[in-house]
Amino acid sequence: MRSDANIAGPMTDPVPGPRTDPTGHDVSRETPPPMDDTPIGRAAQLAVEALGRAGEGLPRPEDTRVMVVANQKGGVGKTTTTVNLAASLALHGGRVLVIDLDPQGNASTALGIDHHAEVPSIYDVLVESKPLSEVVQPVPDVEGLFCAPATIDLAGAEIELVSLVARESRLQRAIQAYEQPLDYILIDCPPSLGLLTVNALVAGAEVLIPIQCEYYALEGLGQLLRNVDLVRGHLNPALHVSTILLTMYDGRTRLASQVAEEVRNHFGDEVLRTSIPRSVRISEAPSYGQTVLTYDPGSSGALSYLEAAREIALRGVGIHYDAQHAHLGAQNDQQNMAEGIQ
Ligand SMILES: Nc1ncnc2c1ncn2[C@@H]1O[C@H](COP(=O)(O)OP(=O)(O)OP(=O)(O)O)[C@@H](O)[C@H]1O
Ligand SMILES: [Mg+2]
Repeated sequence: MRSDANIAGPMTDPVPGPRTDPTGHDVSRETPPPMDDTPIGRAAQLAVEALGRAGEGLPRPEDTRVMVVANQKGGVGKTTTTVNLAASLALHGGRVLVIDLDPQGNASTALGIDHHAEVPSIYDVLVESKPLSEVVQPVPDVEGLFCAPATIDLAGAEIELVSLVARESRLQRAIQAYEQPLDYILIDCPPSLGLLTVNALVAGAEVLIPIQCEYYALEGLGQLLRNVDLVRGHLNPALHVSTILLTMYDGRTRLASQVAEEVRNHFGDEVLRTSIPRSVRISEAPSYGQTVLTYDPGSSGALSYLEAAREIALRGVGIHYDAQHAHLGAQNDQQNMAEGIQ
């Protein structure tokens, strides 16, 4: 049984939202987008919003930061966090690649990337040694954002990889051979600790763990942390948990704040000060093949992901988040924080 069996808890999702089905077929698109919400209107609103948030622009990392978004618990917000953080970092001016490493292909769907069975995908990279550059696609609507999609083929990769040479480091090699300049690579992992996740952990230096503000939030994390230690010890000495992000935070419940406090006590500085609120807009966006940043740029969900991205970017160059407020003096930060984080 999956460890996310607590879905019937007090914070069940009010809008379950269409998802990719287990065979990888696209989610239902029967609900049309709002008529008056034109792409140009959205883009303009988005630009204003992003500029307001980005202030004088964010520092770019010296070298590409490869962040592995992992938690073997299902449904905690890995994919949502991957795509929305990636879009936020791109809107802040970075060049960002999302690698979809989940056979469900949810990240590809959410980014509006075609990933039917014949599309060149991360499966070809891992199993057939195809260069990453041959599968990467630009994400429509978000400049600087790219995606290496997952197709249903990837479901067989866990088994097929077993007999291949350097089975744990195939993604790492593909990334090293990729010559396009990138500021960030975000890897969306499946909810398991198999060879796909191990490939991600070997390829990246940073692990980003989304934690849902739910009962049992920390359950099973020990196993992930032990795997991180193992991979660090044997295959990737640079690997460390750099970032914990609290997701689906509902400020109205005492449970959420208790969980947040527990996570902060347990992990300390790795936990971002920004947490992501539970937001209907966040859960609606993927069914339109969009991130919340383009779907509803003014929503609290969009603003909180922009803020989390800012925090991650600043930490990456060693600037303390608070110090940034003082140094760059983005006047509306406090106000934005208040809107974005409920
Ligand atoms: N902040 C949020 N507010 C509301 N709904 C959210 C939020 N974050 C995620 N969700 C919804 O919760 C569900 C699970 O999120 P997501 O798919 O990102 O989790 P996951 O960890 O990638 O899941 P899996 O383990 O199956 O890959 C989705 O329906 C998503 O739309
Ligand atoms: Mg996912």
